[in-house]
Amino acid sequence: MKKLLLFLPILFIACQNDDEETPIEIKPNQEIIDEYLNISLTDIPNYETVDYPVHYHPLTINFNNIPEDNPTTDKGAQLGRVLFYDIKLSINNTLSCASCHQQDIGFSDAARFSSGFQGIGTVVHSMRLLNTQFFESGEMFWNKRANTLEDQITAPIKDHIEMGFTEENGGLDSLIVKLANAPYYPILFKEAFGSEDITEERMQKSVAQFVRSIVSTNSKFDEGFAQVYDPALPNFGIQNPFPNYSGAENRGKLLFLNRPYPNAPFCAGCHRPPTFALTSVATGNGLNDEQTVVFKAPSLKSVALENNFMHDGRFSTLEEVVEHYNTGVQIGPATDPFLINSNGEPHQLGFTEQDKAELVAFLETLTDESIVDDQRFSDPFK
Ligand code: HEC
Ligand code: HEC
Repeated sequence: MKKLLLFLPILFIACQNDDEETPIEIKPNQEIIDEYLNISLTDIPNYETVDYPVHYHPLTINFNNIPEDNPTTDKGAQLGRVLFYDIKLSINNTLSCASCHQQDIGFSDAARFSSGFQGIGTVVHSMRLLNTQFFESGEMFWNKRANTLEDQITAPIKDHIEMGFTEENGGLDSLIVKLANAPYYPILFKEAFGSEDITEERMQKSVAQFVRSIVSTNSKFDEGFAQVYDPALPNFGIQNPFPNYSGAENRGKLLFLNRPYPNAPFCAGCHRPPTFALTSVATGNGLNDEQTVVFKAPSLKSVALENNFMHDGRFSTLEEVVEHYNTGVQIGPATDPFLINSNGEPHQLGFTEQDKAELVAFLETLTDESIVDDQRFSDPFK
């Protein structure tokens, strides 16, 4: 001890001298971030207080699934964005969430089935991530097996096909160690949650905030609805012709919104405007007479950017989708009663070739190009 004390002043002097020559540099956090990411710790885009256009009327806002214990914050969603685009989330640094959820096609996958971290394919088609916030019950995945978006988030990370952090590979704990070693994460977790601790719950919360913030309000449909919106009219005036639509698009809109004949099912009865998220009570759409599993559908916003439709990507055009509802519905245990007539047979909607073309023209107006290059949702990595 005495020896140490004796040496201390000398050490101190030595250090001081050293300091003058090569000062120990403590980098400001932003400089550390700048080495890896194109984001700012102070000038964060707005995720928190989004001003929904007027036609996203109170009804829609009330249908959202934001849980009380995870309100969206700018810093939380920004951390979620970084995680979403980080290939570190896969065991062999090959895939991020964005590999299978691509921004230019509504956050789905251009391929019918996605390739996991070892190149093995998923058994279902990826899902668009627009308007997940408005699937009222909050259940996620085609078969609704995750109860909330928070629950869903770490499932692909732990999946043996998708990102590979299975129990045998060390599970979430080994991912947490990996993330803690990336210089930017302790900073970003501290900004978002007040301390540097990285936990599964914090990952779930931040990525869920990011995914929920991907809301589409700028399609041709939205522009048209905003123009005719009138709270005094039934359904806020959605039935009125949209001034920005062609004749075919306006007729397609009416076919989507209304029953083709009394008691017939209509598209909007399940795919509810203005978010086009599926209602939580809808069951199967009659793809298969043996189907027992009830599947959901993602919001139909930007559906026309895809080439693979339904959970198994069985259809490759919207014309085929419309034809399915027109003549192809099968009755099985999961088929929604809405699609079955009083004789116990599937409704034949009786759409003509022109009707079908107009319905497709309407579906194409749901494409939201603003999402495709919205910086808030883009890859933040350098
Ligand atoms: C290997 C491809 C792949 C990767 C990587 C991937 N996903 Fe997915 N994602 C899918 C597929 C396929 C589905 C549909 C799976 C199902 O229903 O069983 C899906 C479904 C989802 C859903 C459900 C959407 C809804 O409306 O129900 C969300 C949310 C989601 N993924 C977010 C993520 C996040 C966040 C990550 C990263 C942590 C991620 N995904 C990584 C392929 C992938
Ligand atoms: C009974 C409720 C119901 C009705 C009515 C309905 N759908 Fe669907 N729709 C669904 C369900 C459920 C799915 C997802 C099924 C699956 O993938 O297994 C779906 C899927 C879709 C998809 C594919 C979405 C995707 O991301 O792959 C499109 C497009 C679509 N419906 C359009 C329509 C149109 C157009 C109509 C009217 C002609 C209509 N739907 C009527 C329930 C319904």
